Amino acid sequence: MKYHIITFGCQMNRSDSQRISTYLEENGYEEAPKEEADLVVINACSIRRSATNRIHGKINRINSREIKPTTILTGCVLKKDKIKFRHLFDHVLRIEDLTKWPLFEAKGKNYFKVTPKLEGISAFVPIMTGCNNFCTYCVVPYTRGKEVSRPAEDIIKEAEQAVTSGHKELWLLGQNVNSYKGEMSFADLLRKINQIKGDFWIRFVSSHPKDFSDDLIKAMTECRKVVKSLNLPVQSGDNEILQKMNRPYTREDYKGLVMKIKKAMPEIELSTDVIVGFPGEKERHFHNTVELFREIQFDMAYISCYSSRPQTAAYAMKETVSDKEKKRRERVLTEILKEITLEKNKKYIGKDVRVLALKINKNGKIQGKTAKNKTVIFEGPKKITGTFVKIKINQVSPWTLKGKILSK
Ligand code: SAM
Ligand code: SF4
Ligand code: F3S
Repeated sequence: MKYHIITFGCQMNRSDSQRISTYLEENGYEEAPKEEADLVVINACSIRRSATNRIHGKINRINSREIKPTTILTGCVLKKDKIKFRHLFDHVLRIEDLTKWPLFEAKGKNYFKVTPKLEGISAFVPIMTGCNNFCTYCVVPYTRGKEVSRPAEDIIKEAEQAVTSGHKELWLLGQNVNSYKGEMSFADLLRKINQIKGDFWIRFVSSHPKDFSDDLIKAMTECRKVVKSLNLPVQSGDNEILQKMNRPYTREDYKGLVMKIKKAMPEIELSTDVIVGFPGEKERHFHNTVELFREIQFDMAYISCYSSRPQTAAYAMKETVSDKEKKRRERVLTEILKEITLEKNKKYIGKDVRVLALKINKNGKIQGKTAKNKTVIFEGPKKITGTFVKIKINQVSPWTLKGKILSK
């Protein structure tokens, strides 16, 4: 029997798909292209309306095949969509119930106890799932439920296994990693994982500014393997909008936190998430986000046009920004970001950087990342993927650095 998984959404979903793979393989399935599969699993994301629409496209195509495979919908699906999709899929199942899915004999273990089928060079290690923050625009507390932290012991064991099997980069995952509540704080968990023997990098996402403790800053500075690159979603640069989003900090708090982090780690590179066109976002509110962008000088930003989602508190708020205006605001921020990143990247010219070679890109070049998560393109033999190499940077653009291999 053959299976195929289609994954939408964030790293959390990609990580869950690795657990689904193991589970299906333990039950006698082998991975195959979707045309050959007897079982197709769609691991869904609901963060924006467009993500849900993509499920329709996929399932309609699968259902129109002459010999139709068994289909499962799982992952982040809203209540209303579960009902809507019921007639299009054979099963709509919760990821948390993976080991009790009706297709196989129930194993009764927590789905996090299933070993992930790790692929590639980077390993995802979820430390928690769910979220208690209820930002008014966000579906995650409804699709993933309340925050649940995994036992530290299980996380450390999984991290050790990933390093032993040759993974060079660990991504610790959670919707709000700094509110981790295992037997130890997130800062101490970082310290423990940093002690694992081997040459590898530790990254983590996401961090909520409200929970970013001094001890976490201290742990980041102490731990050599923890990269000095941080995603700190701000969502808006305007205090009124932040309040309406239920983000319990002000732009001043955010800037203060960034200053504290930069004082402790002057070399840190920061990225952020921003939503434009939230209900009630007027030009003056947006202007505050623009200003914040110029002040903080982010190294990367993930800019989203607001999408109204069922079940969330903001769903009841009247949409006031047209799609066209959201797109314009997105473009304005992207242009500022491009200017800033190009200027910052120019400083890399002539410098030697340590790069983790990740893959061969579509042009046959090697694509890798620096510890600070900058994409680097260079020529080299395929066999160096999965290793750290030294690259001399000789060309830059807003999103990438290009260079030549100096040594391994
Ligand atoms: N936990 C993270 C945090 O607190 O920022 C974010 C996780 S969310 C899965 C990823 C990003 O999606 C968010 O940072 C936000 O910018 C974006 N997002 C969430 N809901 C959205 C919505 N309704 N419309 C547009 N973007 C949204
Ligand atoms: Fe969503 Fe807010 Fe939780 Fe992030 S912190 S997952 S944006 S509810
Ligand atoms: Fe991630 Fe989408 Fe779920 S962004 S947590 S897969 S709703």
